[in-house]
Amino acid sequence: MRVLIAYGSTEGQTRKIAETIAGQVRALGHEAKLFDTSGLQGDLHPESFDKIIVAGSVHEERHQESVEIFVVANRKRLQAKPTMFISVSLAAAFEGGQADAQGYAEAFFDNVGWHPAQSLLVSGAVRHDAYGYYKEHILEHVVLENRDLDDPESDHEFTDWNALAKAINEFVGT
Ligand SMILES: Cc1cc2nc3c(=O)[nH]c(=O)nc-3n(C[C@H](O)[C@H](O)[C@H](O)COP(=O)(O)O)c2cc1C
Repeated sequence: MRVLIAYGSTEGQTRKIAETIAGQVRALGHEAKLFDTSGLQGDLHPESFDKIIVAGSVHEERHQESVEIFVVANRKRLQAKPTMFISVSLAAAFEGGQADAQGYAEAFFDNVGWHPAQSLLVSGAVRHDAYGYYKEHILEHVVLENRDLDDPESDHEFTDWNALAKAINEFVGT
């Protein structure tokens, strides 16, 4: 089986997630192709894959524009395949954040006019090294407002790798 994993990542966590999925797909004996939506599509042919995973992360309540463009450009091909959308956010990491995380994904589906067969809300990460002043400010005063972190100065990885592996196992295995 050939699995395409198309992803957008601003600070690297969704890339790490996509690479982990590719490793898992290969370990299951299948072919995995990683595609960064911020690059040129070139000779990528999504129709030649059996299953397609699209992943993106949320910044200021939206997924990457490059992920939106990828989906819009390939909507018909995506509609013809088993698909999974992975939305990476910090809202997903907090109790009471699930509705926000779900809302980002729903808004994405409405914007691009595509409803994947499956979708998964995945908790992202805080990586202070990847932010400048503006991003640090948004993270502290908007995204993490009313959400307590034990050690706000440190990096945090909230991604539940076991839950992700289980979901990918089911998606690839069915
Ligand atoms: C400037 C900025 C804005 C963000 N906005 C949101 C947001 O609106 N909602 C949310 O749940 N997470 C938000 N996040 C958290 C990211 O979704 C999270 O850090 C994710 O792991 C980023 O994935 P990436 O490294 O693949 O880009 C924001 C992060 C940054 C740095």
